[in-house]
Amino acid sequence: MESIRGRLTVWYATALILSVAVFAIVLYVSRRSATYQDLESRIQSEADLTAGILAESYRARGVLVEQDTAGRPVLIPEIAAVLEVVPDFLLLTSREGRLLFASPDARALTFAEFDQLNALAAPPDSAAGGGGGGGGGRVAGQYRVTPNGPTLHYVVRPVPDAGGQFGAIFAGANTQTADLRAAQLVSTIIVAFLVGIVPAVLVGRWIAGRALEPVDRMITEVREITDGRSLHRRLALPMEKDELGRLAGTLNQMMARLERSFTALRRFTADASHELKTPLTVVRAGVERAITRPNLPQETLAGLEETLQEVNRMTELLESLLTLARADEGRADLHREPVDLRTIMEEAEETAELLAEQAGVTVELRMPDAPVVLAVDRSRLRQLILNLVENAVKYTPRGGHVSVELEVSDGGVLLVVADTGIGIAPGDLPHIFDRFWRVDQARTRTGERPGVGLGLAISKWIAEAHGGTIDVQSRPGRGTTFTVRFPHGAMGP
Ligand SMILES: Nc1ncnc2c1ncn2[C@@H]1O[C@H](COP(=O)(O)OP(=O)(O)OP(=O)(O)O)[C@@H](O)[C@H]1O
Ligand SMILES: [Mg+2]
Repeated sequence: MESIRGRLTVWYATALILSVAVFAIVLYVSRRSATYQDLESRIQSEADLTAGILAESYRARGVLVEQDTAGRPVLIPEIAAVLEVVPDFLLLTSREGRLLFASPDARALTFAEFDQLNALAAPPDSAAGGGGGGGGGRVAGQYRVTPNGPTLHYVVRPVPDAGGQFGAIFAGANTQTADLRAAQLVSTIIVAFLVGIVPAVLVGRWIAGRALEPVDRMITEVREITDGRSLHRRLALPMEKDELGRLAGTLNQMMARLERSFTALRRFTADASHELKTPLTVVRAGVERAITRPNLPQETLAGLEETLQEVNRMTELLESLLTLARADEGRADLHREPVDLRTIMEEAEETAELLAEQAGVTVELRMPDAPVVLAVDRSRLRQLILNLVENAVKYTPRGGHVSVELEVSDGGVLLVVADTGIGIAPGDLPHIFDRFWRVDQARTRTGERPGVGLGLAISKWIAEAHGGTIDVQSRPGRGTTFTVRFPHGAMGP
């Protein structure tokens, strides 16, 4: 699960389902036992009522049993008519266990089923030898009429107050009615559950979303802050000092510390470069003065020339470091003015040809006939072009070709520097704009292709400071093309 919100929703839904399920089970069990108790008391009162009617009738009329035409004992019709209205299963037996009366429900059973009931309805104490007159107790229980008759909840009670004419009253009720009520309850619970769970989960999701909304906002803010150079920005602190408020506070503290150390780092680079510049100028002046002395031994002269070269390289490096440090601090000012870019190209042409000639490659500059005017910093732009040309020449073997092209397109002004050189491996491409990054780290400043790896970092900064972009395409062994794109928005008057 991707988000905390999703997880919270799942947990919430699970907890809800579990508690509803427990509730439903408890409800079901208690309702079910209550219905069974209802059933129990119903048959008890049916049996008692019947016993009451028989006792009453006995007092009024005496004999309640007569012989039918087949000579079997039966309940006299008047009483039978009264008992006829009793619902459920009602059986009345004589003291010998013979059936005297059966209610309509009981008569509706098959013979085999009926016999089972009849056996149950035997007087409670007749099995024990018929002693004790009406002293027998009640028997209650549950019985399933086989093979597929109803399951009955029943009670068998003696009839002590009817002059000993009766053995027992059997009253039973089908448990199906109770089961039916329980089943109805289950289906009601299921329906209510299904109808209720969806809105409940949706509401849970909504609550989780609301609770986590500040976190989402914080993520966006932090991303914005760490994305660009906006370490000075801080998260908005919520009013409440809850967990999120404290988190925002902690993040802000962390960013303050980060900002401090970044600033210190930039300051240090800027200060160190700056401080080194003056002594370096002094050294350079000294070496230059010494080199012009007449009659210097050849060896000393060579040594001094080498020193001068190194001093020049070091000055360049310091210049680059200072530029980048100032750019980071936002203090590197661009002096933008409307310039015809072709003039900058022409200025760079001389240097480019000089470099190309030394390296044994040909260089070609192409530009439109019409002026290409943009508001740019002239010297920075020249630096950008020269960096790219210098790289193109440096990384192209003898006999290769370098082309520098200025074009105006719909999307803006394009500066394309292409070479037929060694190219850059795809895996290295993402790094070439990093500071101090060089494809072959082993080739140092003094090797066959000297450099420190700051040229492209500076070029990128210059392009972006003008609102432009710089892209590279390269195929190892085939050549490299750098494309700088300036938007028309940078166009001067
Ligand atoms: N035109 C190119 N062809 C092949 N590789 C290149 C090209 N331009 C740059 N690279 C690779 O990218 C790396 C970084 O270039 P970048 O200009 O930043 O540093 P550098 O030229 O090595 O040193 P610096 O420019 O600071 O003197 C280079 O070391 C080189 O490996
Ligand atoms: Mg370079």
